Amino acid sequence: MTRHRAQVAIIGGGPAGLLLGQLLHREGIDAILLERRSAEYVLGRIRAGVLEQGTVAVLERAGVATRLREEGLVHDGVEIGFRGRRHRIALKALVGKNVTVYGQTEMTRDLMDARAQSGTTSIYEAEDVQVHDVTGITPRVTFRVHGVAHEIACDFIAGCDGFHGVCRPSIPADRLAVFERVYPFGWLGVLADVPPPWDELIYANSERGFALASMRSPTRVRCYVQCGLDERIEDWSDARFWDEFRRRMCEEVADRVTTAPSIEKSIAPLRSFVVEPLRYGRLFLAGDAAHIVPPTGAKGLNLAVSDVFFLHEALRDFYREHSEHPLDEYSARCLRRIWKAERFSWWMTRQLHRFPGDAFARRMQETELEYLFESEAAQKSMAENYVGLPFQPR
Ligand code: APR
Ligand code: PHB
Repeated sequence: MTRHRAQVAIIGGGPAGLLLGQLLHREGIDAILLERRSAEYVLGRIRAGVLEQGTVAVLERAGVATRLREEGLVHDGVEIGFRGRRHRIALKALVGKNVTVYGQTEMTRDLMDARAQSGTTSIYEAEDVQVHDVTGITPRVTFRVHGVAHEIACDFIAGCDGFHGVCRPSIPADRLAVFERVYPFGWLGVLADVPPPWDELIYANSERGFALASMRSPTRVRCYVQCGLDERIEDWSDARFWDEFRRRMCEEVADRVTTAPSIEKSIAPLRSFVVEPLRYGRLFLAGDAAHIVPPTGAKGLNLAVSDVFFLHEALRDFYREHSEHPLDEYSARCLRRIWKAERFSWWMTRQLHRFPGDAFARRMQETELEYLFESEAAQKSMAENYVGLPFQPR
């Protein structure tokens, strides 16, 4: 058995775990990070791409925003496609804030580079990770690497291991309240190297279902179409995808779409999910381990960033001021933001997708979108939520 000691054991090397490690390192708090997969595998996952200004500010503070500042695409608006027309929500003009388009993969790469430079310990391909004694003052984490058993003794465990991780299930079921909604469709996403023929993201509500025109860089698009939960990726050739995507976009956009071979194609289900509280003893959940939003509001990554920001502040105050109070407040502080993002993501999802067999829902959706396009107050409300609700550092 190889024994380790750290102030904090971070489980999960996605954006939440990596960013927490970086923020703690800058406060002089040592953390060991454990990740089940290889670094290459983590970098191969294609996820979200829209950062709120608050998220960019946290990344600045963590010292990992140099490339983001150079390569991130600042967008002052987003568009909604409906009945063949595009309606712009002028984020900057309405609420004075913008969003930055920068792939989660790139952010993860920047964080991995910073972690490698910091000289802190990260253990990839950690198998059979288990948490122990989290209600005591010295929790432990056990795992194996290439067959060798390891143990970390620590003060705190950060469960940043995503929706399918081990931390949340290790909390007794009667200590967690679970709130969940599963939607009757998924998103089929394609990444392709072609210059985006749109300037801003287009969220399209069409008779054939939802589609999203997004991007990753001036030479790379990311596009999605709503699909059935029983669809198989093998049934979606690139040609079929682009044909369907074009049919869901308004004509002027469809005509400008140049198809390109996909470099990644995947189907993701849509889910709303929250557990309360985000703490059990000395185990703290953050990011997708604690909550999932459907991607329609572009909030998943931003919420993970605000959780770990709050968690790093609470841990900093614990070590600096010997105060437990911020740790006690952590869950409630996160949940206020989480539920607002859940509401917005649920609202966006409801307004933009086809819900088969629900004619009443369709009329409500049409009426709600018409109201949005007519009402500056409604646009302002959408803009406020899309750019992210304020969060004050302590
Ligand atoms: N032990 C160690 N690592 C684990 C384990 C485990 N038992 N289970 C899962 N992991 C790792 C996963 O391999 C993954 O790399 O935890 C990481 C969790 O990362 P994400 O799923 O990316 O979750 P998170 O870091 O919370 O990121 C927030 O924002 O855009 C959204 O959902 C999107 O991933 C995104 C999220
Ligand atoms: C993406 O580019 O992957 C993306 C953008 C906006 C969303 C969801 C996904 O709402």
